[in-house]
Amino acid sequence: MRTQVAIIGAGPAGLMLGHLLRAEGIDAVIVERASADYILGRIRAGVLERTTTDLMDRLGLGARMHAQGLPHDGFHLADGERLIRIDIGALTGRQVMVYGQTEVTRDLMDAAIDRGLEIIYQAANVALHDVDGNAPYLTYEKDGTIHRIDADFLCGCDGFHGPSRKMIPASVATAYEKVYPFGWLGILADVPPCNHELIYANHDRGFALASMRSETRSRYYIQVPLDERVEDWPDDRLWDELAIRLGPEAASHMTRGPALEKSIAPLRSFVFEPMRHGRLMLAGDSAHIVPPTGAKGLNLAMSDVHYLSEAIIGYFHRNDREAIAGYSDKALARVWKSERFSWQLTKLMHRFPDGDAFDRRMQVADLDYIASSVAAQTTIAENYVGLPL
Ligand code: APR
Ligand code: PHB
Repeated sequence: MRTQVAIIGAGPAGLMLGHLLRAEGIDAVIVERASADYILGRIRAGVLERTTTDLMDRLGLGARMHAQGLPHDGFHLADGERLIRIDIGALTGRQVMVYGQTEVTRDLMDAAIDRGLEIIYQAANVALHDVDGNAPYLTYEKDGTIHRIDADFLCGCDGFHGPSRKMIPASVATAYEKVYPFGWLGILADVPPCNHELIYANHDRGFALASMRSETRSRYYIQVPLDERVEDWPDDRLWDELAIRLGPEAASHMTRGPALEKSIAPLRSFVFEPMRHGRLMLAGDSAHIVPPTGAKGLNLAMSDVHYLSEAIIGYFHRNDREAIAGYSDKALARVWKSERFSWQLTKLMHRFPDGDAFDRRMQVADLDYIASSVAAQTTIAENYVGLPL
């Protein structure tokens, strides 16, 4: 098979990239290791920046998101008894949209066939070839046969563990990484949220987050040590812990219910440079990871594919080679700013096992400053709603 752009990975990055290219008449094929059901079974964050909702709208795929998503004008930072509201609506004139990443993925998948975006699911042993020549291609196995796709460009949207990033030689690359000494234990339950806005809480016993997927489905998280196991946290223990960490006011409105899903995820900051090598471009989690504090992962994948689609469209429609060459720097400039915000919010809101009394006083001073300064709140708000493209 021959196509213009072969995309590895049908997560949000690969799917959105495919749609943006198809909307401009560029041929694209996605090869994905997993099945559609498997991908739609993954529970991920659920706060969309305006940049992300704008892309869905531009493609004419925003109808369900606007019907079912919850626009939010603010969120809270809690520290002990104190609750600081960040009024993102008043401070930035923008909102964020609470709508699960799983739903974004479903909307993009459902529209693929109609728009001529071919997705090959359950493709095994995907391998990239000749990425630094003029005729790159990929191979994969399906139904006992080896297939080959020749393309002008290969786009690695295959997440942190995919094969694409490994094709960029170590001699030209740099990886920056910070691993945090804790994880997040998350629970999803069909109960109404304890608050109509998100609460990020810094508590003596560790961080907690009250989030939601809808008016009847809640998502909560607590910070746990890395060696903790899900089995150590029966539902009752987790609800008790959430009630303590989120504080008496939130606890009084918290409805408990059986877990639909419960899992532990480690926290990591990671950036890989450059995001292009020859005719291979990386986008989304294949090139960078943020800790979930601030929900930037999906949004950053969306800004990457926005830049990448523009570069590829420029190449095919205007023979513009510069845009391809400039993709990595352009994407990384925004990546690093989101990395900074996610790292700062993580440091501000978590209890670090090796943190001392001075570190804690710095958190309190930071939170005091935020509580008393419109400038500080504006900084947080403009990062939370998403920096301009
Ligand atoms: N061959 C084909 N596909 C692969 C391979 C492979 N060898 N390895 C991984 N993939 C697929 C995965 O199965 C997955 O569907 O690539 C896809 C990558 O999707 P995501 O991990 O969702 O990454 P991305 O699309 O960059 O989305 C970023 O999703 O991971 C979250 O927190 C992250 O919110 C962020 C967003
Ligand atoms: C979520 O709802 O899953 C969520 C929300 C906000 C975050 C992280 C995760 O910062």
